Amino acid sequence: MTTRKQRITGNWKMNLALDEALELARGIRNRVRAHVDSDVAVCPPYPYLEPIAQLLKDSPVQVGAQDMDAFASGARTGAVSGPMLRSVGCSFTLVGHSERRAIFGDTNEIVSAKLRAALEHDLDVTLCVGESLEQREAGTTFDVVLEQVESALSTIQAGQMNRIVVAYEPVWAIGTGHTATPAQAQEVHARIRSHIGHLYDADIANSLNIQYGGSVKPDNAATLKSQPDVDGALVGGASLDPESFIQIIRT
Ligand code: PGA
Repeated sequence: MTTRKQRITGNWKMNLALDEALELARGIRNRVRAHVDSDVAVCPPYPYLEPIAQLLKDSPVQVGAQDMDAFASGARTGAVSGPMLRSVGCSFTLVGHSERRAIFGDTNEIVSAKLRAALEHDLDVTLCVGESLEQREAGTTFDVVLEQVESALSTIQAGQMNRIVVAYEPVWAIGTGHTATPAQAQEVHARIRSHIGHLYDADIANSLNIQYGGSVKPDNAATLKSQPDVDGALVGGASLDPESFIQIIRT
């Protein structure tokens, strides 16, 4: 049985001015030094990626983007490509965050294209999936989530799976304060893992890191992280305060 390292990622979303973002990054860097038993990562807004990647260069904290375009360059006003992210020091990107899906129209096909492009440009990927409240209440959670996983990974070979993390984020739990119960999270994580086993093999399934996201706070992180198939957290609101982010890492 593989032992998976916990991974805690802070998703800063569209928050903070530059000086606040740098201060937050410094606060995390200074506190994380002694706690390298988990992988720690942050996803600042695009304009801050380069200075924050510089600031965190000699620390264990990884820097990633919140999204990227599927194309490498061209007439795509407002878009940011994988090679650009690499050139400013990112090692990974999120794709398929529910806010990208709901607000910016990222379909499963677009998410799949972004994921493939990220790997082509040497970026690791955190693939976000999750059902809406309506879908949960209609009893279609597993169908929705497994379809998102399968479609995003449709062109991904077994040998590339070590570059991928999955983040299960029920939409109804994001930014609402209504976190999934540990049992609800565990149930979906276990289904994702067994589906990966079915699509690839048991070793890949056992090695896959599956983070939970959705209103993770210092006071609920421990029970979520203690579930056998929960390998860390993707944290939004609570990652904007270095103290609460560190507490989530330490629990
Ligand atoms: P939240 O956001 O922790 O504020 O709920 C999580 C996310 O969207 O990644």
